[in-house]
Amino acid sequence: MRRGSGQADAAVLTEQPAIATRGGDIIAIGRRQDVRRQLEGLGLSEGAFDSIDASGATVTPGLVDPHTHLLFAGTREREITLRQRGAGYLEILAAGGGILSTVAQTREATSESLLAHGRRWLEAMLRVGVTTVEAKSGYGLQRAAELRLLALADSLGDEGPVDVVPTFLGAHAVAPEYRERPDGADAYIEEVVSEQLPAVAEQGIARFCDVFCEPGVFSPEQSRRVLDSARGLDLGLRMHADEIENSGGAQLAGQLGCASADHLAAVSDEGVAALAAAADRGAPVVATLLPATTLNLMSDHYAPARGLIDAGVPVAIGSDFNPGTSPTPNLPLVMSLACLKLGMSPAEALTAATANAAHSLRLSDRVGSLEPGMQADIVVWDVPSHTQIPYWVGASLVRTVVKRGEVVFGAMT
Ligand code: NIG
Ligand code: FE
Repeated sequence: MRRGSGQADAAVLTEQPAIATRGGDIIAIGRRQDVRRQLEGLGLSEGAFDSIDASGATVTPGLVDPHTHLLFAGTREREITLRQRGAGYLEILAAGGGILSTVAQTREATSESLLAHGRRWLEAMLRVGVTTVEAKSGYGLQRAAELRLLALADSLGDEGPVDVVPTFLGAHAVAPEYRERPDGADAYIEEVVSEQLPAVAEQGIARFCDVFCEPGVFSPEQSRRVLDSARGLDLGLRMHADEIENSGGAQLAGQLGCASADHLAAVSDEGVAALAAAADRGAPVVATLLPATTLNLMSDHYAPARGLIDAGVPVAIGSDFNPGTSPTPNLPLVMSLACLKLGMSPAEALTAATANAAHSLRLSDRVGSLEPGMQADIVVWDVPSHTQIPYWVGASLVRTVVKRGEVVFGAMT
């Protein structure tokens, strides 16, 4: 995890760099002659390795997308027209559209079709250099439907090559069954806590629990209730916090010690201060910013990335891949938005999409940086410098992707 001025340390290797991998892990990295010597020390000769020539290219860790709603059925392009006519996101949701229309279609979808969809989009992510993906449930909103989404996400990770980290998001919206009740939100939260969460813990697949803490969806008190019980069940905590309007979500994330507070487009100064205080006391909450969502919502109100970084908060970026507010699997595109809309430097954006994203998923001992002992998840980019990755907006720049030491996409040599 890198924060403050350290967020810009992109750990760029120069002078004939080389990386050696074995058994899926990086075993040596540095100047080529040093790597050769280290291999000899291990009784290995450089010539015995398959090699990829990355001359003139740029090599980075596999990208880590720390916020996706990978599995859903149906599409919602109609909402673009509604937004063009002035409808707000929360307004569309309150009218039973938005998330709820995806819930209806996802509940009806066969597992085979959801798996085919998941494979298609994981492949699209892999092609742009993403090798680890967080995947939220949240389009089931009832016990069996949520458990199914988690199980499908898990099996896609088992299929590989992209690693999938499942997150339980039962509190994504008030389920349709509760919407007519005056106490609907509280009653649904009660179901999430007493019925869904214990089953999710028993299933043993989800690593995190997330909540959509937003005025008109779930309040900070309701969010706290869910996350407190999730913590009791040994799940890590994440939040959709202060996405559209401020409700003190960032402060709650700081108090609860969440691994990640996501969106933050409407975070207050107090919220930034709360996240900075958490980082200063050694319990950093990663601020996971999702500028593709702001773009899709046709808003000009981007998260205050500079203020967060300057206050010492570690910043990650994610695609927020979902059918409503961010139908993009393209994390390098989000790196471009981080530079163009959030004021981040290319190096800060790269850290945000690798080391800090990995930290928010509690995976920084395995992925997100190129060091001996880390998983050999490596991307070779067809550009001479990492500063050109966000520069060529929307271009296909990936030459080769290596996952756990194997070439899984692109050129073999
Ligand atoms: O992160 N805000 C809540 N969840 C998603 C949107 C999901 C949807 O609209 O289907 C988000 O923006
Ligand atoms: Fe989201």
